[in-house]
Amino acid sequence: MSQRIAICSGKGGVGKTFTSISIALALSDLGRDVLLVDADLGLANAQLMLGISPELTIADYVEGNKTLLEVTNKVDDRLKLIPGASGDASLANLPLGALSDLYEEITSTFHDSYIVFDLAAGISNQNMHLLKLCDQRLVLFVDEPASIADSYGVLKLLHLSDKLDHTYLVPNQVKNAESGKKFYERMNHLCLSFLGKPVGFAGAINEDQAVKASIRQRTPINTSFPDSKAWYNVRTIATRIANEAGDTVFE
Ligand SMILES: Nc1ncnc2c1ncn2[C@@H]1O[C@H](COP(=O)(O)OP(=O)(O)O)[C@@H](O)[C@H]1O
Ligand SMILES: [Mg+2]
Repeated sequence: MSQRIAICSGKGGVGKTFTSISIALALSDLGRDVLLVDADLGLANAQLMLGISPELTIADYVEGNKTLLEVTNKVDDRLKLIPGASGDASLANLPLGALSDLYEEITSTFHDSYIVFDLAAGISNQNMHLLKLCDQRLVLFVDEPASIADSYGVLKLLHLSDKLDHTYLVPNQVKNAESGKKFYERMNHLCLSFLGKPVGFAGAINEDQAVKASIRQRTPINTSFPDSKAWYNVRTIATRIANEAGDTVFE
């Protein structure tokens, strides 16, 4: 099964990296091969949350010193990580042609895997480019005016490129399932009113102290807090992603 999933948000700090690594782990728990790409080029931290310290990063590949497989780390039997490179502005500003080449190389090398891209926040050309290339897009947001406004900005740009299909909202840090759904409906209403098109719903993630604790411990939530609400929410989202990809999994 090959499926490319981009995780993005308008505003930073809303839970993209937590969600990306957790969805990658949930898909691998379902028995699927998964590659997680830290595509927050310039501000990498997926490896921190996974509790690993890779020696090589995507920068070593982009600069031409290493092959893609050499910079790919094995997290477990089914999950691999291409780590990002922190503080490297040249990567964040990669020309779009070079970004397309990178994407092609990654997707052809890992053609039988789910590939999860943890993107940077915002509407840079690079981010929008990767978003449009992927098969499914998850847009995370939290219940704050800036996050709502900025994620609407992402949705509007996706709509202008005719890519609102296969785009799904993920309200994060919600009080409960009901408020998460309501929060989604408010955003969907904005899209229907101003863009004339609906946007999908992938599921909401509860505000959960287990998320913060797992990040502090540098131990992914599936091993540190397997009974937490947030992990349950992420597994539901991962199941929907798989089903959407035509890879039938039962919820
Ligand atoms: N569901 C959640 N419940 C509680 N805290 C959360 C949740 N999601 C994210 N956080 C908090 O938000 C912070 C930022 O998350 P992170 O995944 O690094 O965001 P981003 O990648 O979007 O910048 C985390 O360190 C954590 O403290
Ligand atoms: Mg991040």
